[in-house]
Amino acid sequence: MKKILFALPLTTLLIAAPSFAQDGEALIKQYKCTACHKIDQKSVGPSYQDIAKKYTGDAAAPAQMAERVKKGSRGVWGSPPMPPHQNISDDDIKTMINYIMGVK
Ligand code: HEC
Repeated sequence: MKKILFALPLTTLLIAAPSFAQDGEALIKQYKCTACHKIDQKSVGPSYQDIAKKYTGDAAAPAQMAERVKKGSRGVWGSPPMPPHQNISDDDIKTMINYIMGVK
């Protein structure tokens, strides 16, 4: 119960955060990435925090991540694969990846 009470102000803070974070977060909900990814906890796929940690400082990573989101990915993080998302525009994928890389 305590956890929920603490989480509320944090959520409010995230919603009030600068525009690209907000867009990225909204797109991630819209495209149902949330079905397999959580911010701070491994789900079917890795958490956004773990992704951000793994690729911080790697200038080539965002393009490679975008490619994996678009075409699908397997074997990078473990056994379950990520299905391809061919119908999502490159711009939207970029916005979501910017958001993921900024997750703390
Ligand atoms: C059906 C489950 C599923 C959905 C839906 C899904 N993912 Fe994933 N995602 C995964 C799994 C599993 C992995 C790890 C794949 C691997 O090990 O190669 C992954 C990996 C990733 C990675 C890391 C890629 C890398 O280069 O290491 C990113 C970024 C990512 N997903 C973003 C997204 C975004 C954005 C969406 C929504 C458009 C999304 N995922 C939807 C399951 C999913």
